[in-house]
Parts: sequence; C-alpha cells; structure tokens
Amino acid sequence: MRLNRTHYCGMLSADNIGQKVVIAGWVQSKRDHGGLIFLDLRDRSGIIQAVFDCEKNASIFSEAEKLRPEYVLAMKGTVSRRSPDTVNPKLSTGEIEVDVEDLEILNTSKTPPFYIEDGINTDENLRLKYRYLDLRRPEMQQSLLIRHRTLIAARKYLDRRGFWEIETPMLTRSTPEGARDYLVPSRTSPGSFFALPQSPQLFKQLLMVSGIDKYFQIARCFRDEDLRADRQPEFTQIDIEMSFSTIKDIIIEIEGLVSHIFKEVLGREIVVPFEIMPYREAMERFGSDRPDNRFGMEIVDISEIAGGSQFKVFQSVLQKGGVVKGINVEGCGHFSRKELDDLTQRVQRWGTGGLAWMIVTGDGFKTPIAKFFTAEQQEEIRSKMHAEPGDLLLFVADEWEAALKVLGQLRLFLAQRLNIIPEGKDSFLWVVDFPLLEYDQAEGRYTSNHHPFTAPLEEDLPLLTTDPLKVRSQAYDLVYNGIEVAGGSQRIYRKDLQEKIFNLLGMAGEEVEEKFGFFVQAFQYGMPPHGGIAFGLDRLIMLMAGKKSIRDVIAFPKTAAGNCLLSGAPAPVSSSQLKELYISTIPRDNKENE
Ligand code: AMO
Ligand code: AMP
Repeated sequence: MRLNRTHYCGMLSADNIGQKVVIAGWVQSKRDHGGLIFLDLRDRSGIIQAVFDCEKNASIFSEAEKLRPEYVLAMKGTVSRRSPDTVNPKLSTGEIEVDVEDLEILNTSKTPPFYIEDGINTDENLRLKYRYLDLRRPEMQQSLLIRHRTLIAARKYLDRRGFWEIETPMLTRSTPEGARDYLVPSRTSPGSFFALPQSPQLFKQLLMVSGIDKYFQIARCFRDEDLRADRQPEFTQIDIEMSFSTIKDIIIEIEGLVSHIFKEVLGREIVVPFEIMPYREAMERFGSDRPDNRFGMEIVDISEIAGGSQFKVFQSVLQKGGVVKGINVEGCGHFSRKELDDLTQRVQRWGTGGLAWMIVTGDGFKTPIAKFFTAEQQEEIRSKMHAEPGDLLLFVADEWEAALKVLGQLRLFLAQRLNIIPEGKDSFLWVVDFPLLEYDQAEGRYTSNHHPFTAPLEEDLPLLTTDPLKVRSQAYDLVYNGIEVAGGSQRIYRKDLQEKIFNLLGMAGEEVEEKFGFFVQAFQYGMPPHGGIAFGLDRLIMLMAGKKSIRDVIAFPKTAAGNCLLSGAPAPVSSSQLKELYISTIPRDNKENE
C-alpha cells in the first residue's frame, strides 16, 4: 500500500495536534531508546520527530529498527504534544511529534559520502560530485527557494510594468562581447559554427526595432572566461530593454524592481533612490568602479603636499605625471614592522612600486620617511586625512589608475581583515559616466569598456575625434555591497555614429559587414532610441542568500576549472559523432606547434 502524503513535515504545528497525518521524506537521524525509537524525518519544508513505541505496535517497531539515514519513508500517524522535557526549541516543529501507526519503507539508501545537514565542512568537489545529496541540505534548498521567489517576483513586477518576456536564440552567431565564445558545430553547414550567446544583446536591440518597446528575459548566458567565485561559464541574467527611454527611466524601473524583490522575497525594505556616483568619483574615493561604501577608509589625495616634500620616491612619480594617494587605517598605529612589510609586499604583488607608511603619534609622525616632511607638511597630511594619534596612514605613489586600484584593493583587504564591514547592510549605488573606450596596448587599438553598442554622452561627442579616451559613455552599473550586480547602457541608434564607433574600434567596413551586417542593416529601418540593462541573477541571489560564491546558489554549477563534476562534462565524444560534424581534433601536445 502506497501512502499518499497529506502534510509536509516542517509545516506541522501545534494546530495539528490530534489529527491523523501522512508524511513522507528522508531519515535524518534515529535514536533508539530501548522500547522507543525517535526518528527525525526530513523533507524540503523541515524536520518532524516521529515516535515508534514497541508496546503500542511491535511489528512497526521492528520495521523501524531497520531504518538508516536517508531511507525514504512514508508514515501515517497522529500528531501529539511532546512532553515538556523533550521539547526541542531549535526545530519549528519542536513542540510536537507524530506517533507512528503505519510505516512504508519506499526506498533504502547507501550511507551518503557526507552529512546531510547545514554548516558541513566537506570538500566542495565532493559536494559537487554528489550535488543531488548536497541539494538535500536545508541551506542549499533555502538558496534555491530565494532564487525561485526572486524569479517569480521579477516576472510579476516586470509584467505589471508592461514588459514582455521574449526568448531569443541559444544557437546564434559569435558576437564580440569581451569573452571567448562557446562554439557549437553545425552538422548541416560543415565547417560552420553557432555560438552560444554571451548575452541576448543584439537580439534585444532588434526587438526594439520591431516595436516591442519593453522587453525582458530570464536569459542564460555563456562566456568562456577565467572563472572566479562570482563568475560561471553559464549564468543567468534578468535582461531588460526599453525604447524611448532615458537613463532616468531605466534607473526608476530597476530601483522599483530591486525594492519589490527584496520586499517580496526577504521582507526587507530597500531605500530608493540609490546614490548615483560618477566613475571618476568612485575611483578617486574608493579605488574601484564597484565601490563598497558600507565603510569609510576613503582614499585621500596628498599629491600637492607630497610635491613639496623632499621624498624622492614621491617626487619622481609626480614628475612623471603620477599621483600620491593614501588611506587612513584608523587605530592601527600598532601594526608591527613585519605587518607593514607584509602589506608592502602585497601591494608590490598587485603591481605597484611600494607602500609608504606613517604612524600618527601625539608627537608627530613615526616613520622612516618623517625627515623628508616638515612639521607643517606632516600637520597638513594629518588634517587632510582626518588622522588622530594611533592611526596608520598608508600611501601609494603611481599613475592615477594604478595608485587608486591598489589602494582600493588594500582598503578592501584591510577592512576584511579588521572586520569593519557591517553585516546586514544593503548598500546599492549606481556608477555612471564610465569612459567609453579603453586602449589595448598589446593590440594597439581602442576597445569598448562596456560593448560597442553603448552610446557616448552627447556632450562628449566632439571628443570622439580629438581625444577618444576622454569620451564618457551612457553606461551604468548597479553595485550592491561592492559587487557589480547589473550593467547596461543607452544604445547608439544612429547608423553614422555606430559606424564611427566601429571604426574607432579598428573594425573595417568588411569586418563589420561580416560580423554585424544583420544588425547594422536594421539601423536603416527606423531604429528607435533605446537602452537597457542586465542583472547578474546569480550574483544578486548570492548576496541575498548571504553566500560567498555563486556556486552556492546554482543548482548544478561548474567548478573553477569549468567542469561539471556530477556529469563529468566536458567529455570526449565518439569519432563517429565528430565525423558527422566534419570535425577532427588536434592532440593536445601538438597544439603548441601549430
Ligand atoms: P554585462 O556583461 O555587464 O552586460 O553583464 C551583466 C551582468 O551579468 C553578470 N555577469 C556574470 N555573472 C556570473 N558569471 C559571469 N561570468 C558573469 N558575467 C557577467 C554581472 C553583470 O553585471 N548585454 C549587456 C547588458 C546590457 O548592456 O544591457 C551585458 O551582458 O552581474
Ligand atoms: P626605496 O627608496 O625604494 O627604498 O623606498 C623607500 C620607501 O618608500 C619604502 O618604504 C617603499 O616601500 C616606499 N615606496 C617605494 N615606492 C613607492 C611607491 N610607488 N609608493 C609609495 N611608497 C613607495
């Protein structure tokens, strides 16, 4: 007899006392107290204690003696109140238990390779290999639930705001979005390849040409790039595009979406509007284009004071057009010489020349370089950096971007080490006015900072001819607690401007025609002004669920090496499969010699 479940374990409460229920799930644990067996049964809603009493039902009791962890059971019984001394305040069902009257063992289980419980310290590779067991753990299911609810909330919100959900192709052509493409060979066009989309960028822009006006998609994206804790080769975006919109319209929609999601899913109020910070200010104050502004330790410029000092290291950098910048690490004047040497080596590994330090005392600065600074210069530095006795001042002299990036990294490193980043704070901010272009020294050409379809700021258009690196773009990133969770831009919608940008990027007419012919053609048929954005869903969920890696919020993620340990993908395929695709592979050892 199969028992049809009537209740989830974790949903049972004192309200059910006296009721007959049928529950089903996995054995979490079993405690044998002689004539009584206590068994914790787990399903996705939680755990309930079931009791087998030998005196009441000897045959079921002897069945229960056989049970082992992760056996799959269905049980019928009556909910009763636990005696006060056995109440378990850690369980939501801790006041009640089920007196079992009928038991069916639906399946047995081998002993799992790790405990199915929260907070385990198991090697992640083992968890990934047995992901289906890992996903039985409540904290993993909680993340999947947050993900599910976020998607539902996003869909509802965007529908209400007039956005249509439209799917775009997975098998498409290679477009330049910065990362390497995943290619898919075509059987019917031998020697030709599809690419998996790095994002639906071109298709969503074409949908604007089609008059769709407001589009969204929960889009899977594929990028063959170096992986980190917040990067996966395939990841999910909440992808959005709007016609006849300004940056302000996008910002309003996205702030509405974020606050709706946080309220619906986490019950948390998010304060809108978010702060809007130009890229240059983000760099100057935080040394990063995704500033974590939950704590201070902001970067201060002391170039002018340093220029008047006798310190050669600073002077030579300044003479070459560099800067001297510093941070005040409050209350850390006690750092030992070794600690300071370690920090110096660290910043050198990050690519700068060194680290100068000054410890503020009641009696001037303690530092080997004090002699290069007059008493007035020391007082000026102290006052500019709001330093008090007991503080540690750290300085880097380098080119503008290099000095700021290193100090930005140092600021984050020290904040983590000193544990001064407040937990439980939701800090959102927009970064705008990014440079449109970067210069790739190795390739000797400009590259897009965001992507080639991003519009320059109207007022900077003349600079495109005179000083392209100074041109700012109409791109925007949404940063949440120091992580870029979304990025987008207003797009170019006029053909002449798009061609000019392609030219600047070193793409000749033929190349454009070949790569983007289908796209450029659409410019000639009434392309409306439009703009959009894409959320990195995995990153957003990671932060919402309080996880450190996006792998923890993806059901079946890849390792940092890009493998699926569960299925063993990627894996070799048979020679007949390759033949069918007209593909032959080069042995790995030969690749170098090509
Ligand atoms: P972008 O490349 O900035 O923009 O991507 C948007 C957001 O996607 C997330 N993201 C990733 N998440 C996990 N793993 C990755 N490998 C990964 N790469 C990016 C980030 C990022 O902010 N088409 C444009 C959007 C637009 O212009 O509308 C785009 O894809 O959170
Ligand atoms: P040096 O003259 O190279 O021995 O350096 C003297 C001090 O200046 C050492 O403490 C170095 O770490 C520091 N220093 C060297 N280069 C830099 C730099 N680019 N920025 C800040 N400090 C530096």
